[in-house]
Amino acid sequence: MDTIKIMIDGIETDIAKGTTVLEAARDLGIHIPSLCYMKGINHSSSCRVCVVEVGPRLIASCTLKAEEGMKIQTNTKKVREARRTSVELLLSDHDRECLSCSRSGGCELQTVSNDLNIRNVTYYGEKSSQVKDYTSPSIVRDASKCILCGRCVGACGTLQTVNAISFAKRGFDTVISTAFGRSLDESTCVNCGQCIMACPVGALTEHENINDVWNALSDPSKVVVVQTAPAVRVALGEEFGMPVGTRVTGKMTAALRKLGFDKVFDTNFGADLTIMEEGTELISRLNSGQNLPLMTSCCPGWVKFMEHNFPNMLDNLSTCKSPHEMEGAMVKSYFAKKMGIDPKSIVVVSIMPCTAKKFEGSREELSNESMQDVDWVLTTRELAAMIKEAGIDFVNLKGEAFDSPIGEGSGAAVIFGATGGVAEAALRTVFELTSGKELETIEYTAVRGMDGIKENIIELPNGKKIRTAVVHGLGNARKLMEAMERGEKSYDFMEVMACSGGCITGGGQPIVDARRSEQMDIKALRAKAIYTEDEAQTVRKSHKNPFITALYEEFLGAPNSHLAHELLHTHYVKRSKF
Ligand code: FES
Repeated sequence: MDTIKIMIDGIETDIAKGTTVLEAARDLGIHIPSLCYMKGINHSSSCRVCVVEVGPRLIASCTLKAEEGMKIQTNTKKVREARRTSVELLLSDHDRECLSCSRSGGCELQTVSNDLNIRNVTYYGEKSSQVKDYTSPSIVRDASKCILCGRCVGACGTLQTVNAISFAKRGFDTVISTAFGRSLDESTCVNCGQCIMACPVGALTEHENINDVWNALSDPSKVVVVQTAPAVRVALGEEFGMPVGTRVTGKMTAALRKLGFDKVFDTNFGADLTIMEEGTELISRLNSGQNLPLMTSCCPGWVKFMEHNFPNMLDNLSTCKSPHEMEGAMVKSYFAKKMGIDPKSIVVVSIMPCTAKKFEGSREELSNESMQDVDWVLTTRELAAMIKEAGIDFVNLKGEAFDSPIGEGSGAAVIFGATGGVAEAALRTVFELTSGKELETIEYTAVRGMDGIKENIIELPNGKKIRTAVVHGLGNARKLMEAMERGEKSYDFMEVMACSGGCITGGGQPIVDARRSEQMDIKALRAKAIYTEDEAQTVRKSHKNPFITALYEEFLGAPNSHLAHELLHTHYVKRSKF
C-alpha cells in the first residue's frame, strides 16, 4: 500500500494514498462536522460544512485528497467562522419548525447547528421553494426543509439507478425535482425510500398512516388485525435506544396488543405460504423450461422497477403476491370464515420495514371482492411513534407470542428479511419436495452475505442444477438485467431485493445518520439477528409449518390450486420509463 505523510493540527500521520482529509482526520479522532457527504452515495461537497484550512485556502475536506507533506488545520477561527456561516445560510432558507418535524432529535442539520453553537440566524430574506408533495402513497417531499445537499439524488441515482429525482433549475431557484416537475406518484419512483434514509433533515419522510390506524383501533365495529414482517423485529428496538441487532420479537408482540390490535399475526406465516406457492411455481417452470429465470416478487420496489425499466421481462416475475399481501388475503378469507367474522369488518394493518409496501398495499390488483388484501401499511418508524405516543414502556415489556392460527411462521420465513433469505428458504423446500429426502445441512450459506450479486449453481438430488442469482440494491439488479439482455448471463432463479442488504435496511427502518453508518456495519448486525432468530425456531422449513399444512388441508387444497391462484397470485403492469 502506498502511504504518504501529512500533518493535521500539528499531528504527523502516515495515511494510504487516496485518503481524503476528512477520513484521515476522523481516523485520528479529530471531529470535522459534515452534512452533504455520505460515503459511497454523495461526494458533491456542496454544503461547505467540513471546510479545513490548507495554507491560505479553505477547502472542503470530504472531497480533498490528502497529498504528501500537506499541512491541515481543522480548528482555526477562520475555519469555525466559515462553517458557522455555511450552516447559518442553510438555516436562513430552512423551515425551522423543528418542534413538530418528524426528524426532530435525529436531524443532522440540528446536530451540526448545535455542535457549532449557533443560537442566532443572522441572515434573512426570501425563501426558496416551499412545495410539498403528498401525492405518493409512500413518500412525502417537503421542499421547505430541503437543504439541497444532494444525498437523496445520490441514493436514487448512484445507488439505485432509479433517477426519479435530480437537481433542476439554477442558483437560488435550484430544487430537487422529478422529470418535468411531475408529482412523485407520476414519476418513475419505485417507493423504496432510500432517499428518506439518505436525507439528513425532514425533507423526505414516509407518507404517514398512523391516524388511519388509530381511527380503526377506536372503531368498535372493526376487527383490527396486525401482522409484522421479519425485518421489523431486529430493528424496532433501536428506536428505543437498544443496540443495533437486538431482537425484540416478544416485546413487539406485547406492544401491539397494548395498542389495541385484536389479533397479532406474524407475516412469517405469509412468507411460508409464499415459499409453498413460489417453490411450486419454480419446480413447474424448471420442468417446462418456460419463463426462466423465475424472479422473486416479494419486493414491491423491485417489482415497480421492473414495470418501469424491463417491461419485456414481466412474465419472468413470480405471480405470487408478497408475503404480507398473501397473509392479508388469508385473513379476509380463511381466518374470517374460520372465526365467523364478516371480512368487510376486518381491517388488516401490516408493519413493514419498507415504504414501497404502502404503494403495494394500494395496488388495485391486490384486492379481492373489492376489499384490499391489506388496508394500511405502517413502517417500523411509525410503529415506534405509536408505541411512544401510547406511553408504553417498550424496553421493559415482557415478551408475548403471536396469535394462531395464521400467526406462526418457520425459521425459513424469518430469513426473508435479509438478502439471500428468500432463495435459501425456497431451496430448503424445493430440495425436500423434489427429493423426498431430509436436508442434512439446512443452511445454504452460499446465498448469504453482503456481496451485491451472488451467483451459485445448486444441485438437487435428482441431478437438476438450479443456476441462482441473489441480488440486492437496484443498481446491482440493473447491471444483472442488462447483462441478461445482452445474453451474457442466464439463470433459472433470481432473488432480488431493492434495498442494499434486503428488507433489514428498507426505507421504513430506523434512520441511521451518515456518521454512524460509517462507524458500524448496520446491515451485518441486523442480518446476524435475523439468522439467530431462524436458529431459535423449532420449525425451520416452510413446508413443515403445521399451520401451513392445515391451511392447505382445510381451505386451499394444494399449492397453485385454482383457489390459491385466485387469492394468492397477481399480475403486473407496464409503466412509463420516464
Ligand atoms: Fe463536505 Fe458538505 S462539503 S460535508
